[in-house]
Amino acid sequence: MDGMTGGFGLPVLPFQTGVPAQDAFPAKLWARVHARAVRADASTPPSYPDPRGHDELRRQIATYLGIARGIRCGPDQIIITSGFRAGLALALHVLGARGRTALIEDPAFPPVRLGLELAGVKAVPIPVDRLGMEVGAATERIPDAYLAVVTPGQHAPTGVAMSGGRRNDLLQWAGSGNRWIIEDDYLSELQLVGRVAPALASEDIHGKVIHIGSFSKTMKPSLGIGFIVVPPETALRFGEAAACLSPSPSTASHIAMAQFIADGLPRGEQDGSGASTMMRGLRRARDAGRA
Ligand SMILES: Cc1ncc(COP(=O)(O)O)c(C=O)c1O
Repeated sequence: MDGMTGGFGLPVLPFQTGVPAQDAFPAKLWARVHARAVRADASTPPSYPDPRGHDELRRQIATYLGIARGIRCGPDQIIITSGFRAGLALALHVLGARGRTALIEDPAFPPVRLGLELAGVKAVPIPVDRLGMEVGAATERIPDAYLAVVTPGQHAPTGVAMSGGRRNDLLQWAGSGNRWIIEDDYLSELQLVGRVAPALASEDIHGKVIHIGSFSKTMKPSLGIGFIVVPPETALRFGEAAACLSPSPSTASHIAMAQFIADGLPRGEQDGSGASTMMRGLRRARDAGRA
């Protein structure tokens, strides 16, 4: 197999980039929480679950995002997906991006460019320097751009955080017309260098940022859990699109993830359970890598 469909499922090599530290994943704890969730799900009536994802997980994510990413949102603005890529597809669909132009970072996460192309969106790569994507030059050069797909927290793969000035310019650009920003927050609070930058969505006063999170890096790609946070005015439309085109998968893993996050917030910070154990392990791995 070739291209985007090749190279998956292979053993992880020492120092391999792009995957979380294996020893940071609390396998036994997760297995226990997940087994309990499977049992809980098995005994519920066989009705259709909420296509936006399990209620309690959306509530836990809203709380977590408030604490860790500075985003003030309610569970009704959140849709659980199978990861960043599923969130991107949903956003492109709901925003009606087909036939329009998008600014993407150069370099960018490869599925972004091909994903846009497959969704009928013209992707224009914009250089990234030490301040992040060169927003001003891009918006002047491509005046008809309809959206921008960015990793403002930490650019992938360089790790550069977008400067305050560029963040403002980007928000201003989207807020002053019929334009959108898709924020790929794939690393969440897992900042590798310096202080954790708040999510761009936390500064979005115009309601133009679609924030996409994923547990692929903070937990494990094989869990296949991510989420999308949308401005309140668009929540109904996103919910309808999820209900008709891509309902959220697997309630059992949602129940487990909700419990895992709940255990790590903030009581868990003291008792060392769930998500807090994971984040501590990842920080330790990061610091060991720096030493
Ligand atoms: C820039 C970027 N975005 C998102 C993701 C995660 O994508 P997904 O949630 O679809 O696994 C990755 C994973 O490597 C990434 O590098």
